[in-house]
Amino acid sequence: MDNFAVISPAEFQCRPFNMIEKDWFVITTQKGGDNANAMTANWAGIGFLWWEPVAFTFIRPQRFTHDLIDSTDAHSIALFDEAYRKQLVFCGEASGRDTDKAKECGFTLLWHDGIPFFAEAEIVMLCRKMAKQPLSPDGFIDPVIGEKAYPERDYHDLYISKILKILVKK
Ligand SMILES: Cc1cc2nc3c(=O)[nH]c(=O)nc-3n(C[C@H](O)[C@H](O)[C@H](O)COP(=O)(O)O)c2cc1C
Repeated sequence: MDNFAVISPAEFQCRPFNMIEKDWFVITTQKGGDNANAMTANWAGIGFLWWEPVAFTFIRPQRFTHDLIDSTDAHSIALFDEAYRKQLVFCGEASGRDTDKAKECGFTLLWHDGIPFFAEAEIVMLCRKMAKQPLSPDGFIDPVIGEKAYPERDYHDLYISKILKILVKK
């Protein structure tokens, strides 16, 4: 934790489209008592809602992360340096149901305010869940969404989480 400075969301600067689409996020959730699972994601957003800085994440129901987010109050969303791309690909393919992804990646688990994250991250957003909203095909206006994103009808759940603090590597 000594390697990170704590900043408020208002101080955070980024190139949002690069950060989300190209760099990807790692969503880290508590798994069991003192372990954690990492899942790569890049369908996401950050913004302001209900008077709070928030993160929007979209998780398909079959992900282990979906179960873990549902069973915990808080999680982290982290950005890594390009040097960790291989690990991020792995965290986007393997499931924490049958793999200890953090161990396989050689990540060092840390906790801040009871929220798990990895020491190898560059930027960590500590988040507390505010709302969960299932995406419904009734709401899709562009027909491409249903056809292209959901041939299996495995519609994402949208999670809206308050960004409590941001940790930035010193
Ligand atoms: C670049 C990338 C982005 C991804 N984005 C998402 C996403 O936004 N939502 C989602 O449900 N799955 C997404 N995935 C798929 C999950 O990361 C993948 O299914 C993972 O194995 C789930 O891990 P878990 O079962 O441990 O939660 C993405 C995968 C990659 C490689």
